Amino acid sequence: MPDSFRGLRVAAFESRMAESTAVLLSRHGGVPVEAPALREIALDDQTEAIEFGRALVAGAFDVVVLLTGVGTRFLVQAIESQIPRVAWKKAFEQTFSIARGPKPVAALREFGAKVDLVVPEPNTWRELIDAFRATGPKPGMRVAIQEYGESNADLIAGLEALGAIVSRVRVYRWALPDDTTPLRDALRAIVAGEIGAAMFTSMKQVDHVLEIAGDEGIAEALLTVLNTRIVICSIGPSTSTALRNAGIGVDIEPAHPKLGRLIAESAERWDSVSKSVSPRAFGTFKEPRKAVLSAIETRGDSRLINESFFHDSIFMKACRREPTETTPVWLMRQAGRYMAEYRELRSKVGFLDLCKTPELAAEVTISAAVRLGVDAAILFADILLILEPLGFDLEFSRGEGPVIHNPLREASDVDRVNVVEDLAQVSFVFDAVRLIRAGLPRGLPLIGFAGAPFTLACYAIEGGGSRHYDRAKAFMYRDPGAWSVLMERLVDATAWYLNAQVAAGAQVLQVFDSWVGTLCGRDYIEFVQPHMIRLFKRIDPSVPVIHFGADTGSLLELQREAGGDVIGLDWRVDLERAWARLGESVAVQGNLDPVVLLGPIERVRSEARRILDQARGRAGHIFNLGHGILPSTPVDHVMELVDIVHAYRSSDRA
Ligand code: CP3
Repeated sequence: MPDSFRGLRVAAFESRMAESTAVLLSRHGGVPVEAPALREIALDDQTEAIEFGRALVAGAFDVVVLLTGVGTRFLVQAIESQIPRVAWKKAFEQTFSIARGPKPVAALREFGAKVDLVVPEPNTWRELIDAFRATGPKPGMRVAIQEYGESNADLIAGLEALGAIVSRVRVYRWALPDDTTPLRDALRAIVAGEIGAAMFTSMKQVDHVLEIAGDEGIAEALLTVLNTRIVICSIGPSTSTALRNAGIGVDIEPAHPKLGRLIAESAERWDSVSKSVSPRAFGTFKEPRKAVLSAIETRGDSRLINESFFHDSIFMKACRREPTETTPVWLMRQAGRYMAEYRELRSKVGFLDLCKTPELAAEVTISAAVRLGVDAAILFADILLILEPLGFDLEFSRGEGPVIHNPLREASDVDRVNVVEDLAQVSFVFDAVRLIRAGLPRGLPLIGFAGAPFTLACYAIEGGGSRHYDRAKAFMYRDPGAWSVLMERLVDATAWYLNAQVAAGAQVLQVFDSWVGTLCGRDYIEFVQPHMIRLFKRIDPSVPVIHFGADTGSLLELQREAGGDVIGLDWRVDLERAWARLGESVAVQGNLDPVVLLGPIERVRSEARRILDQARGRAGHIFNLGHGILPSTPVDHVMELVDIVHAYRSSDRA
């Protein structure tokens, strides 16, 4: 990425927008070090604000200047503790109002109050004065200024020079943050050469940074490092002036004083300013990204996150059918009983309990992916977990696999399938996703998954595994109406469940329609495809989706029509021919027979090469098995398989 921080640690002193700052920095390849340097607190004594409100209503002002959004809101809150909104707004309508920039404008709009003049960028006191002068102000006019922190002497002098009689209305002041530990840590890290850039987004941050540095006894060292080894990024002219007054040179100031511009332009230019950034100023892959993770959580900001960390991984590229030097590989059931450490854990914890303990599920997921060296991790969970919130009584009994104790047998049973209104019952899955995302190596994509409605319906009707799915299919033929209702409820719950996994931090999704291969094409079209189409339409479009089914050689085109960016192939089809049938619009995943992994290693090698030869290095092949790894598989064979795939170059083709 040419315009990337390339892993540079960037200290950000922003407080209110700390989270967005961290997300944006990450998006531009930086490792954010959050060091909030301010806290805005309303003055305990709101007398000044209330007095202003009374004077306003009494017609004492000709002009009101609003300098900040937060301040405007504080001001209105204070006024409204005493004066009703209709009253102050009526008086406000009679005055000429000036907003310093978009934030006070937005705040005024929230109260439905008008704005007469918006100060143009970069929104400093100079533009304010110029814009106001241009309106031809009359000498002797009475101007009230909503102030924040300290008053701006230049602004007051400028207004007075235009003949104004200025009143100051102080509504809040700045304080150090409650917890200054992150700021102190960041300043020490700067001095130690572990930070590559420092980002200042307000004047007051400069004072607080110096104050804390003084407190820590590192003020002098800090100034030296800031001026020689750290790229100094400043949001705009006032902050830059404050920095220069403090003896700190500014390297980057964006053309527009906006957070987004600051970060984008800093990402573009940090490398070309003459600062000798220490090699230690680059972050490691595992560094926690607290704000980034919480942003995913609270806003479901998957697009932002996915673009930033994972976009260039070979797995994501293959999902998008972009060429990659090596073929990405992961294996269905890569975490499971074939691994001794998994069996060891399972000797102590039941399978469902394992799924429901996010720390353990995360450990199993991460350790398998890291040990195998695969190109994607898959969430440790099970497709049947979603059946619990739907009202099914699920158990995994030893030796027998899954059992549903209250299966659907009659059409009327569908009435007791819950319309899922709350995913709280499976929140452990999202907690696991968050933990996994936080613990996985940076750039290693995480696959979330769910069962497809047909496969889930099979379990819900059969009550467990089955050979012919005779009960499920007979139900479907006999009661197409009830079948549709069931499928719709499953689709609704599944779409929501998948999107919640993305919101929690999954980069890719796989939909397992493991048993749909039991249907002929006509039945698929009639009973399944419309529901699959609806499911795929409802999945977050920012993540690639893998559509997998076993024994679906006769359904591939119909599955592609239903949806998915990648189609999973099992070993019964020939990869080359299946891909030719599917055409250019999808990537493919597969398709080694899992049983081959049990056999002689030579066979593993030759079969893996055969599949890779068939793919001919075409963009959009993800290597995988045709179905899950069997419990009796030797781990060595799995590890060697991963190596074979990674070592293969299509130019080596036999
Ligand atoms: O692939 C992974 O590493 C992620 C974890 C994962 C599991 N199940 C863990 C699991 C995934 C993606 C699944 C999906 C799943 N579960 C499917 C679709 C994939 C497929 O195999 O077609 C299905 C049909 C299920 C239902 C299910 N879960 C069955 C039939 C069984 C019993 C059979 C078996 O393999 O034991 C399970 C249990 C299960 N799910 C285990 C694991 C690791 C084994 C449980 C144990 O530890 O005893």
